[in-house]
This record gives sequence, structure tokens and C-alpha cells, in this order.
Amino acid sequence: MTALVRLVGLSRSVPDGYVLRPILRDVDLRLDYRTSVLISGPSGSGKSTLLNILGLLDRPSAGSYWLDGVDVAALNDDERSELRGGVVGFVFQHFHLLPTLSVLENVLMPSDYTVGRQSALRDRAEDLLAIVGLADRFESKPMFLSGGEQQRVAIARALLREPKLLLADEPTGALDGATAEEVRGLLMAAVQEVGSTAVLVSHDVARYGPVVDRHFTLVDGRLTPAEGVPR
Ligand SMILES: Nc1ncnc2c1ncn2[C@@H]1O[C@H](COP(=O)(O)OP(=O)(O)OP(=O)(O)O)[C@@H](O)[C@H]1O
Ligand SMILES: [Mg+2]
Repeated sequence: MTALVRLVGLSRSVPDGYVLRPILRDVDLRLDYRTSVLISGPSGSGKSTLLNILGLLDRPSAGSYWLDGVDVAALNDDERSELRGGVVGFVFQHFHLLPTLSVLENVLMPSDYTVGRQSALRDRAEDLLAIVGLADRFESKPMFLSGGEQQRVAIARALLREPKLLLADEPTGALDGATAEEVRGLLMAAVQEVGSTAVLVSHDVARYGPVVDRHFTLVDGRLTPAEGVPR
């Protein structure tokens, strides 16, 4: 069976004065469908850079990337956007909700939400909001929600189109301990329900380590299976 994600010899460098500074070095990774993965590692080790490449927001300097069986290097910009829209969902550390739209409209935002009003997409949005515990907040504006509630809206939005790949960069990093735990649980439940492969970037190994299928560490641009975890 093809893998959802396959990286072979992937590197990313950025210009630094007269030299190229490696950010990711020779990364190999194969992820199946419907798995959960934690990537941890020190600040500056390249975690967000790797996530951006996986989400087709950035390009590698060398190496190969197949996403859902497609060789990404062969795509033009429009094709990349189309693949991203069809396959990838994103959750960020700081929720990025649109302040003038309601909770339901924010979840429907990737679509034309006026069309969404009558569509199956709207039902899906309502289902997802119920899964993350916001069934009674459809009409609220983000400014009246707590940080944890805002992130739950962002999770529903990311999962609306049932992405095969859900990428989350420090999804609970801006939340206090109890709220982070609650949102972590709701995120994992929603991902499970949709059937996405989730790649979670977090420093919080104690919180995410026990609940993922696989755990990798990124140190100085090199990705390796986390110590002590049989893979
Ligand atoms: N486009 C770019 N141009 C120059 N430097 C970059 C670029 N993108 C990333 N970097 C550098 O690459 C390194 C890795 O950055 P990245 O954001 O991936 O780290 P990170 O592991 O996500 O860190 P954190 O845990 O602090 O979020 C950093 O030193 C950063 O400054
Ligand atoms: Mg980062």
C-alpha cells in the first residue's frame, strides 16, 4: 500500500551570509494513513520548517516528497494548492480565527459559507463543533470565547474537509495546563473520528508522548525515532 507521506533524503537550507545553513538534513520519513505522530525537539531544530514542507507551504532544497501517492516536486503552484486543499488541514498555536465571523462561519471559512448554509458541509461543521464541545456556541464571535474554545473552533475548521493529513504546530502551546489537556483530548478524538493522520509538533512530550502511535525527535535538522520508543 502506498504511504500517505514519504520523504526520502529531504533537506532544506537557507542562505546565511555567503553560505547555506542547513535547517533539515537528510530526513527520511514514511507515514501510513490514520496514524498519529509526535515530533518534538529543541527550539530552532526545524520542526515548523518540516511541518511547512509537509503541508506544501514550503519547498525542500533537495530530496523527494510523495504526498498521498503524488510526487510533489512535479506539481505547479496551482496543483500544489489543489493538493493542499484536498489533503491537508492545519492547526496553529495561535488559533487565527476571523474576528468578524461567527464560530460556525469560521469553521465553514474554507468554503463559501453562504453556500455552506444549505449544504452537507454545514451539517459536517455542526457535527465537528459538537465533537469539540461547542454545540451551543455556533453564533458566538471568537472574542467571546476562551483560548481553549477558540482552538476547538480552529480544530473543527481544520477537519471540515476530512483531510488525510492534519498538521498541528504546538496546538496547545498557548493554553494553560488543564485547558491544554482538554483540548489535546478533543483534538485526538476529532482526528480519530475523521480518520486523519495527525502530525503534532510539541515540546510537551509528557502530554503527547503517551497518546501517539509514533514519536520522533528533531535535533539540529536530523529526524530520528525517539529514544526508548520501539518502532
Ligand atoms: N525562511 C527562512 N530563512 C532563514 N532562516 C529560516 C527560515 N525558516 C527557518 N529558518 C531558521 O531555521 C531554523 C529552524 O526554524 P523552525 O522554525 O523550523 O524551528 P522550530 O523547531 O519550529 O523552533 P520552535 O520550537 O522555536 O518553534 C531556525 O534557526 C530559523 O531561524
Ligand atoms: Mg516552530
